[in-house]
Amino acid sequence: MNNFTFYNPTKLIFGKDTIPTIAKEIPAGKKVLITFGGGSVKQNGVYTQVTEALKNHEIHEFWGIEPNPSVETLRQAIALGKEKKCDFVLAVGGGSVIDGSKLIAAAIPYDGDAWELVMKRDYSQGHTLPLASVLTLPATGSEMNAGAVISNKTTKEKFAIYTKTPVFSVLDPQTTYTLPEFQVSCGLADTFVHVMEQYLTTNGQSPLMDRWAEGILTTIMEIAPKIKQDQNDFDNMATFMLSATMALNGFISMGVTQDWATHMIGHELTALHGLTHAHTLTIVLPGTMWVLKDQKQEKILQYGQRVLGIDIDDKDLAIKMTIEKTESFFRSLGFKTKLSENNITQSTIAEIEKRFIQRGVRLGENRNVDGPVAREILEKVM
Ligand code: NZQ
Ligand code: ZN
Repeated sequence: MNNFTFYNPTKLIFGKDTIPTIAKEIPAGKKVLITFGGGSVKQNGVYTQVTEALKNHEIHEFWGIEPNPSVETLRQAIALGKEKKCDFVLAVGGGSVIDGSKLIAAAIPYDGDAWELVMKRDYSQGHTLPLASVLTLPATGSEMNAGAVISNKTTKEKFAIYTKTPVFSVLDPQTTYTLPEFQVSCGLADTFVHVMEQYLTTNGQSPLMDRWAEGILTTIMEIAPKIKQDQNDFDNMATFMLSATMALNGFISMGVTQDWATHMIGHELTALHGLTHAHTLTIVLPGTMWVLKDQKQEKILQYGQRVLGIDIDDKDLAIKMTIEKTESFFRSLGFKTKLSENNITQSTIAEIEKRFIQRGVRLGENRNVDGPVAREILEKVM
């Protein structure tokens, strides 16, 4: 096991009818900038609950943070926050609203342009306004991590930055009942791949992290068909929501190496083609597993045996079955897992290889996924 520091100060407020607690969690006298997406919270009653709870606070609303939040949109929210002298940001929505709000909270007290902060990549030591969230979509873990993924429409780029974790996040699983079926699939797949990025790496680093990771993977595979049948089952949606948070809040990555090649290649597919984040992962992960199957052999076998129940002596066959079963799981969620099915051609692969070479990218637990290896991964899933 490697040395590590674990610090996650987000207060998690979880369960039925918990949204009104924001009234006492946000100190009286704060000028709150409340940020929203495109309007789903008006249809499911979340907006009413939030504004009712904050009726004694000074609030300013910003609407229109889009999926894959763009710096172009966020600049408008930052301007509003500066103008109204807001000193607290409350994000209400999915990962995009929370991610975008992390940049807003960092940029309101900052004098330069918000994209400068994105290009710093690590702003964890910078000065930011306190941020909290009311989550409506289990997927990204943004409600309890410091990450934010910000897009630039002009340059067609998408980068992850690290700022601060929310001071608190409210998770009422009832808010997920109105999610479109596609977003439910996306949340399940994103959660699954977050675990894989931290688990399918170097063998034998921490039996405890392995078992926790396998616990989340098994749980997601168990509840996925039930949730697809009935999205209004409180206990299953609560399990889904907590799984998504636990998958990316640092609890399963203590002392172990991490990969993230699948995510970074996936971000390029979103930036260049607008493909939904989780969808990109369902395409890329099987490719990563194929191309790095020697390096990841022991872990793929362990995952195959413990999570998928593939228990045979022939290692090559076990690996093949494991990768195919993983892809079948994604297809069972409704994803088209080949690039060609999504009208993505060789020219995109060439562009991603070029970008990775230009940026000197080296991903994966062994830092050996560079431009040419990213090309191999993508060609494998053509
Ligand atoms: O905008 P509204 O109207 O709210 O609708 C949203 C949006 O259209 C809708 N939605 C959310 N909650 C709903 C709902 N519709 C009905 N009922 C509800 N309860 O769902 C749509 C998608 O929302 P979005 O926030 O974009 O989805 P998600 O949470 O999957 O976030 C994706 C973004 O997070 C980034 C991704 O790259 C992408 O930009 N990620 C952030 C990470 C992090 N912060 O650590 C890690 C992830 O790997 C990921 O990269
Ligand atoms: Zn993700």
